[in-house]
Amino acid sequence: MTCGGLRHPRHPPPLAGPRAAAPGPNRSDGNPMPPGQPGTPGQPASARIHNALLGGWNHTCADAAAADAIEDACPQARQICRDSRLFTARVTAYAAGLGITQYIELGAGLAPAPSVADTARSLLDGAARVAYVDWDQDVTEYLAYAAPGAGTDGIAVVQADLSDPAAVMTDPGLLKVIDPARPACLLACLVLHFRPPAEAEAIIAGYAARLAPGSLVAICIPRVDDEVMWARMGRVRPDAAWNYTAQDVAAVLGGLDLVPPGVGAVFGLHPGWDGVPERRREGGYTLGAIARIPLRR
Ligand SMILES: C[S@@+](CC[C@H](N)C(=O)[O-])C[C@H]1O[C@@H](n2cnc3c(N)ncnc32)[C@H](O)[C@@H]1O
Repeated sequence: MTCGGLRHPRHPPPLAGPRAAAPGPNRSDGNPMPPGQPGTPGQPASARIHNALLGGWNHTCADAAAADAIEDACPQARQICRDSRLFTARVTAYAAGLGITQYIELGAGLAPAPSVADTARSLLDGAARVAYVDWDQDVTEYLAYAAPGAGTDGIAVVQADLSDPAAVMTDPGLLKVIDPARPACLLACLVLHFRPPAEAEAIIAGYAARLAPGSLVAICIPRVDDEVMWARMGRVRPDAAWNYTAQDVAAVLGGLDLVPPGVGAVFGLHPGWDGVPERRREGGYTLGAIARIPLRR
């Protein structure tokens, strides 16, 4: 087993002791953060486990052990994460092709390159604007200070609970780079499954109501058809998660215009193409879709 240890120049690995007081949860309704909030020292966290599954270096040995246990339960776990990153890059490029220059990535995590900013800037140069949102302080510090391109113009990092669209979309940091009056591309990849489908539906509806017509919303979740495998994963995963169906994914994007080919396994899902290949990876795979906010509501 390999593990990297956190690479944040601004703060030491958090396992050494209690973490510094994190900025408070940014909820407009005053509710406390729901269970699953990251930050327990020594405990694996989803952002770092995800980094370990992707072969990155921003994780601890506890996270690497959790990643190994998840892979034992679901041999496709690493591919699920890779497919999400490739989908994220394809959606970013698709949005740029439509003339969209603003991106909001919910649950941005500690994924190795290419980031959304890398892809957007490679296509849009200085016009690209990116807001990363995550509630994990390890993630926000990394993205704000250590990630390639950190601190450069046009990038904002927001520490917030994504389940509060009103707070996220009025966050002063986000508003420095995102103009809600203009179309944006909202990405929620491998993160909504930490909430039940009905909640995710309300969350995405909350963002859609605050995004300009013509905006894109792309989501993807890990899908495991084999319930025994899903149950095995549940025993080793630190966070509760829901095994969304394709119908759940469609319902989360309900009321928006689905971009063809609609809901499908994202490794074969290319926006604008006619169909999703029949072939599915055995076991676990990444299921997703892209939708557009209608020009007239
Ligand atoms: C599995 S990673 C996904 C990273 C990236 N979106 C991808 O697809 O590669 C999930 C990320 O979502 C974050 N997250 C989970 N629940 C969240 C919430 N309610 N609000 C904000 N971030 C959340 C975690 O901290 C973690 O960084």
